[in-house]
Amino acid sequence: MIAIGMEGSANKVAIGIIRHPTDGSTPQVLANVRHTYNAPPGEGFLPKDTAIHHRAWVVKMVKAALQEACLSPQDVDCICFTKGPGMGAPLQSVAVAARMMSLLWRKPLVGVNHCVGHIEMGRLITGAENPVVLYVSGGNTQVIAYSNKRYRIFGETLDIAVGNCLDRFARTLRIPNDPFPGYNIEQLAKKGTQLVDLPYVVKGMDCSFSGVLAAIDALAVSLGLSGEEQAQNMDALVAQENRDLGTKVTRADLCFSLQETVYAMLVEITERAMAHVGAKQVLVVGGVGSNERLQEMMGIMARDRGGSVFATDERYCIDNGIMIAQAGMMAYKTGFRTPLKESTCTQRFRTDEVFVDWRD
Ligand code: FE2
Repeated sequence: MIAIGMEGSANKVAIGIIRHPTDGSTPQVLANVRHTYNAPPGEGFLPKDTAIHHRAWVVKMVKAALQEACLSPQDVDCICFTKGPGMGAPLQSVAVAARMMSLLWRKPLVGVNHCVGHIEMGRLITGAENPVVLYVSGGNTQVIAYSNKRYRIFGETLDIAVGNCLDRFARTLRIPNDPFPGYNIEQLAKKGTQLVDLPYVVKGMDCSFSGVLAAIDALAVSLGLSGEEQAQNMDALVAQENRDLGTKVTRADLCFSLQETVYAMLVEITERAMAHVGAKQVLVVGGVGSNERLQEMMGIMARDRGGSVFATDERYCIDNGIMIAQAGMMAYKTGFRTPLKESTCTQRFRTDEVFVDWRD
């Protein structure tokens, strides 16, 4: 059975095709294509511009995916699309394309929860059977564990997502958005030597990042490290950091301190969830999950508990179409369908709303 997955909840329009062999053997990824909309340095991606980008690229991406998989539309069993959560206008652009394909090809639709897509993709790629999941991205920050047919949220952000905190600080420093702001922050952070004091905000099982962002933004401004006049490319930024190294608090020190602080908060709540459910494995998914420092810190904690950490590389960690195809196919095989008149999308769609009928 073959599923095509269509994702467009944020700044990437992504199409994936997956085959589930009827003998129950390991699913095969047949195509995984993606195109990213990047805003200029100092700016975030806005819903309207992102939706224009998705509408311009979605048909090309579907054609490219079919070509990569050497398939025709007739070979596809179901069309899976991101129902939510995400940004309204970009979600709609891809949902409209999915509905059009469903009518043209006469194939059923399967609406997929984006967060569940990340979890199922992570489980498929890493082989982690029943891990505690940390889902960290530009729009989401949740600690999740499976129990009794639901992915239950044990802890989450009380305000902005951790990735949004990193992205917005990148804007303050005018760090480029290409390939993505968090990646460039990580490269600068590797040169950091001084840990500056920032708020550490863990409340029970939940975190808060807006105060951390406000504090580090204010610090950057007071040190004269923000503003229009700053270098626009990474090479110039790194060269300047090398000159300033060890003499004063640098952009690298701020990136380093921000990473150390917010990742420590995430490791703390993940560890508490692992202790609560008695889990030994932790799976990190979402765009921020590709951060090597976060993986390293999580690994130290998991090893101390006699467990291990699973992470995927950027092909499957960052938003992709395969994750939507995979989660959609799991639901499709249990008989789940999304009728055309219910094939809407929604900005708010919590992970624990999904009835996970495909797990025991
Ligand atoms: Fe995501």
